[in-house]
Order: sequence, then C-alpha cells, then structure tokens
Amino acid sequence: MDAEPRASSSVGAPARVFSGIMPTGTLHLGNYLGAIVHWVRLQQVHPSLFSVVDLHAITTPIDPSLLREKIREVAALLLACGIDPDLATVFVQSDVPAHAELCWILNCLAPVGRLERMVQFKEKAGQQRENENVGLFDYPVLQAADILLYCGQPPRPVLVPVGADQRQHLELARDLARRFDLRFGPVFAEPIAAVAETGARIMGLENPLKKMSKSGSNPGDVIALLDPPDAVRRKIKRAVTGPGREVRFDQSQPGLFNLLTIYQLLSGQSRAEIESHFAGKGYAALKSELAELIGAVLTPIQDRYHDVRSNPDYLAEVLTDGAERARRESSVVLEAAKRAVGLG
Ligand code: AMP
Ligand code: TRP
Repeated sequence: MDAEPRASSSVGAPARVFSGIMPTGTLHLGNYLGAIVHWVRLQQVHPSLFSVVDLHAITTPIDPSLLREKIREVAALLLACGIDPDLATVFVQSDVPAHAELCWILNCLAPVGRLERMVQFKEKAGQQRENENVGLFDYPVLQAADILLYCGQPPRPVLVPVGADQRQHLELARDLARRFDLRFGPVFAEPIAAVAETGARIMGLENPLKKMSKSGSNPGDVIALLDPPDAVRRKIKRAVTGPGREVRFDQSQPGLFNLLTIYQLLSGQSRAEIESHFAGKGYAALKSELAELIGAVLTPIQDRYHDVRSNPDYLAEVLTDGAERARRESSVVLEAAKRAVGLG
C-alpha cells in the first residue's frame, strides 16, 4: 500500500477506513485482490466502514428486482470474504441519508469542468454525453461525500483502500475537502488513497490490455467469486499468455504477467520463488496450478456465502445494525458541515 507510511507517520492514525463497492454485475477476483483483501486486513487495525453503494449503482440502468438481489449478494460476499461485522461496519449506502445530503452540499463547490475530465464518466458516457443522466456525471461527488462523512470532528484523514482505477476520484475528494475548508473553515481532512503496489489492476484473462471488470462484455475475461471450479479451470485454460515458453514475470507479456500476479497474491510467495518453482515447466503447468489455487481460495468463500444467504435474518440484522452505526458516525460531520455553510 503506497499510502500507509504517510498514514502512520506524518498525519497520525487515520480517523477511519472507508471503502465502497457497487452492487452491479458479479464480484470478481479483481475486486477481491485489488480491494477486499485489504479491507479484511485493515479492519483489524483501524475502525472501518464498508458500504454497498447502491446510490452509485442506479447511475446506470439496472432492473429494480435485480438491484435488490445484488445488494444482498454483495453484502453476503463481503462477509464471506472475511469482513467481520464485529470489527467493521457494513451498511447499504441508501440506508444512510447523510450521503446524499452531503453530496448536495459538495455539489455546490464542485467545478463542472473538473467532473467533465473524469475518466470513468468519459468511458461510461461514451458518445452519448448530452443524453447522459446527471447522476452519472455527479458520481464522483457522491463518492467524495461517502468518504468525507467519516473524517470525524476534529477532522482526521480517512484512509480509502481502492484499486488503481479510483485514484482520480480520490483526488477529487481531496480537492473538495480543501475547497470546503478554505471557504468555510476546518470541517474535513483530505482523505488518503491506499492503492496496493501489486494487484491494484488485475487484467482481463482473454484481453489482458483491459482491466477485469464487472461490466465487461466478455465473461471469459472475468473470474467471478462465485464461479465453480470447472468454470475457473476453463477460463484459466483459455487465458492469453503470449508467445514464449518461460514462466517469468515479464511486463512485455501482459497476459502471462497478470496470471503470475494473481498466483503471487494468492500463494503469498515471492516472484523469485514462483519463477524457480516453474523453471523448466511450461504455461500449461502454471495454468493448472493457478486454477487449483484459485479454486482453493474461492471454495471456502463460496461455502460461507451460501451459509450467509441461507440465513437472511442474520444478513438483515448485520445491515440494520451497520446502518445505525453509520448514521450515528456520519451525523457528527454532516451537522458540522451544515453549520459551517450556514444551514441549520
Ligand atoms: P467496483 O467493481 O467498480 O465497484 O470496484 C470495487 C473495488 O474493486 C474498487 O476499489 C476498485 O478499484 C476495485 N477493482 C475493480 N476492478 C478491479 C481490478 N480489475 N483490479 C483491481 N481492483 C479492482
Ligand atoms: N467508485 C467506486 C468503484 O467503482 C465505488 C465507491 C463509491 C467507493 N463510493 C466510494 C470507493 C467511496 C471508495 C470510497 O469502485
């Protein structure tokens, strides 16, 4: 994590850890390795909140009954991956109205030009910008509100563990915190992005030039956390490696590099250990061992997921309790922001 030294030395311990995940598509190995494994680790060390960001999810069209199901699926998967509701607060964003309220206040400081340059907006809106909904345009301001609500009073930076694709959104959140404080006094602290050195951008299996993504059109690019072992084997077998034979961490072969990165993160071995383990063996050996390794990590997650889903009362209780905690914690900052602006 490139941000952790700063978080612990120059600015003191963060107020809290906050991160969010959208209840759209299926959670995949990129979400797990780029974000969730870090959440599981950080919840042991800092007060943490993890949100299923359903208000963000409706910025692109989604069927209401599917959304309702996805919210539960994602929350259950977070628990199955090791987020512990006794340590961390797990909640659904729309259960905490402060997020939308602070978003509105920040909207009144956010420059349109800045939002127009957001890469995610440009990618999602494509050629249809004029017809795009305002929610998609405003998405990063809502994300800034999500984060800044948990800086506490007096303000301390929130640590935000995310994949590399969220860096630009975090910069905007920092900028909005600065702008607000300059104009109205010290209510927020600039949040800190925690982006891991390895695994912050897991790539597609068949197209390793594109990141593995929930909304990707080719299922062959994505290992879903709920994929059964035979699907994992099939997808890894079809993964692009590139020319050559040697199993080496070679940046010029993005497909091979990506498979090895996944292997490295899941096995906990060093690059040198992995290269020497596969010396003299070919890509087929790498693929078959990698598929086994992924299966060994996913199977217990899937077992826990099915346990959680078989007990809907438990999940509902976790989310109700999480929402209450998040409402309590966020209300302090929301009230301070409203007072500073002259509201209420
Ligand atoms: P999303 O799927 O956009 O809701 O992302 C949830 C979290 O997973 C965010 O922190 C993302 O940065 C992270 N993430 C998404 N895709 C990847 C990927 N391919 N590699 C690493 N991290 C990812
Ligand atoms: N935009 C993030 C993503 O696509 C999801 C998100 C919403 C988030 N609010 C957040 C991430 C606050 C971190 C902090 O992955």
